[in-house]
This record gives sequence, structure tokens and C-alpha cells, in this order.
Amino acid sequence: MTTINNKHVLITGGASGLGRRLVQRCAEMGAAVTILDVDEAGAEAAADEAAARGAGPIRAFVCDVGDNKQVAACAADVLAAQGQVDILVNNAGIVSGRPLLELSDEHIERTFRVNTLALFWTTKAFLPAMIARGSGHIVNVASAAGLIGSPRETDYAASKFAAVGFNEALRLELQRSAPGVKTTVVRPFYIDTGMFAGVNTRFPLLLPILKEADVTERILRAIQRDTAQVDMPWMVRTLPLMRLLPVWAFDGLADFFGITGAMDEFTGRPAAER
Ligand SMILES: NC(=O)c1ccc[n+]([C@@H]2O[C@H](COP(=O)([O-])OP(=O)(O)OC[C@H]3O[C@@H](n4cnc5c(N)ncnc54)[C@H](OP(=O)(O)O)[C@@H]3O)[C@@H](O)[C@H]2O)c1
Repeated sequence: MTTINNKHVLITGGASGLGRRLVQRCAEMGAAVTILDVDEAGAEAAADEAAARGAGPIRAFVCDVGDNKQVAACAADVLAAQGQVDILVNNAGIVSGRPLLELSDEHIERTFRVNTLALFWTTKAFLPAMIARGSGHIVNVASAAGLIGSPRETDYAASKFAAVGFNEALRLELQRSAPGVKTTVVRPFYIDTGMFAGVNTRFPLLLPILKEADVTERILRAIQRDTAQVDMPWMVRTLPLMRLLPVWAFDGLADFFGITGAMDEFTGRPAAER
């Protein structure tokens, strides 16, 4: 069991969406919170909001978590200002939403830097102290796109499949070497944060566009209960079973459930709001 009250929680991508709500809720639950984000104004605003809700110190740092040198430098500043991190939430993520041949090399590399490589850099920065203390929790916010690919998501799905693999290998390493340090992988379908504005779902009862608040509460509960995996909605958990089918049948089911066409009307967040 990992308590949140009186702990130091570090949340990447805490300036917006899911990360921002996690920042608010952790502050309300009595944690000290650190935000790492590239959006300076958003991170400062999130920190101010959270400070008004909780007693623990809330600090925001500008940091591109996809850059290992920035993460190392920032980790030293975080340690000096806020102390050791008890709970690390790898939440920052980006999406391009374009077919492969419309993706620039820069888009592809950036997606992997933020959605995949950042998990390595932040975990390498904050895990050693958790191991030394024999306790800690690392949350990796991946996606249902880490279990199933769909059109306009070659870079995103590949980066999230990698995130799922990273979490699994790490979990098993820690079970052997540091069983007091827990991990949670989060694999949600689309969420109403605006990151995936324009996506649609054919069967909203089976595959609803998730509410940011609901996903946040599930993540918090998973931390408190040391739950290793959060799949939302429940249907996401059936995907590995569906892979027992021949590929043509699996693809047919994905098409039938509207997963293949979900990104057809994707617009993403308007540039002005980014
Ligand atoms: N929304 C969904 O439908 C959905 C579904 C499944 C999984 N997820 C995952 O859930 C996580 C949170 O998504 P969200 O919808 O809350 O996204 P969001 O609202 O766009 O928030 C992501 C935050 O991360 C920041 N960020 C981007 N690149 C960064 C970098 N290099 N270093 C530090 N911070 C960076 C963003 O800043 P800028 O705004 O300046 O880029 C933004 O503040 C992501 O990992 C996403 O892949 C989302």
C-alpha cells in the first residue's frame, strides 16, 4: 500500500489535462507535488491552483522530459527544493495524429523522446533513492494504443507499445531487486482532455470517451492499492485475448468496434491552446 498523504509526488506533464488534475488531487490529499513540464505558464498556473488546495509545497519546473541532460539537471534542482521523490508519475505525452508519410522525421523522434525515452530518463533519475529507501511507486501513463495500433498513430502507438514494454520489464526487475518499489501502467482509451480532440467512438457504452476526473481517481486508487495495471474501460483488458484470433478476424473486430476509424476526424488541440 502506498499512501499519498505527506508524500512527495512528481508529475510530468502536470500543466495540462490528466497531469494537471493529478496535481490538484495529490495536493488536496496532502502531498508535496512537483510538476515537470515544457509549458511554463501552464505549470505555474497549475502549481498556484494546487497550492490553494493543499498544505504541501507545490513547485513547478520547466523541463523537457525527453531530454536526458535537462532531466538530470532538473532532478538535482527538485531534490534540493523538494527532497526525494516518493511517487513518480510519468504522464507527459504528445500525439501527432498524422498518417506515416505525413510525419516529419522530427515528429517521429519527438514522439519517441516524450512518450518513451522520457520514462527512462526520469526513472533513472528518481529510482535509485526509492531503492535505497526500499519504497516508492512509479506510474507510467501509456495508453490503449500500447496494446492496439490504429491509422494515424504509427508513431504514437509504437511509442506507447514501448512504454508498456518498459513498464513490464521494470516491474519484473523491481520484483527481484527492490520489491518495495511498485509500478502501475495505465492504458486508457481516449480521454476528454482535448489532446485527442475530434476522435470518435462507435459504441460509447462499450468504449466511452473517458472523463479526465475518472481516470485520475483510478490512478490515485491504483497508487494507494499498489495495483500494477489500470485498463479503461474494461474492454481494453480483453485485447490480449482477442489477439488469439487470426489477424484478419482481429482487424475485422477492431474495424467493427470503430477503433480503426476513431482517428478519422482527429484535429487535436488547437495550436493556440497548446
Ligand atoms: N487524452 C487522451 O485521449 C489519452 C488517452 C490515452 C493516454 N493518454 C496519455 O495520457 C497522458 C496525458 O495526456 P493528456 O490528454 O492529459 O495530455 P495533455 O493535456 O496534452 O497534457 C500533456 C502535458 O505534457 C506536456 N508535455 C509535452 N511534451 C513535454 C515534454 N517534452 N516535457 C515535459 N512536458 C511535456 C504538455 O505540454 P504542451 O501542452 O506544451 O505540449 C502538456 O502540458 C499522455 O501520456 C497521453 O499519451 C491520453
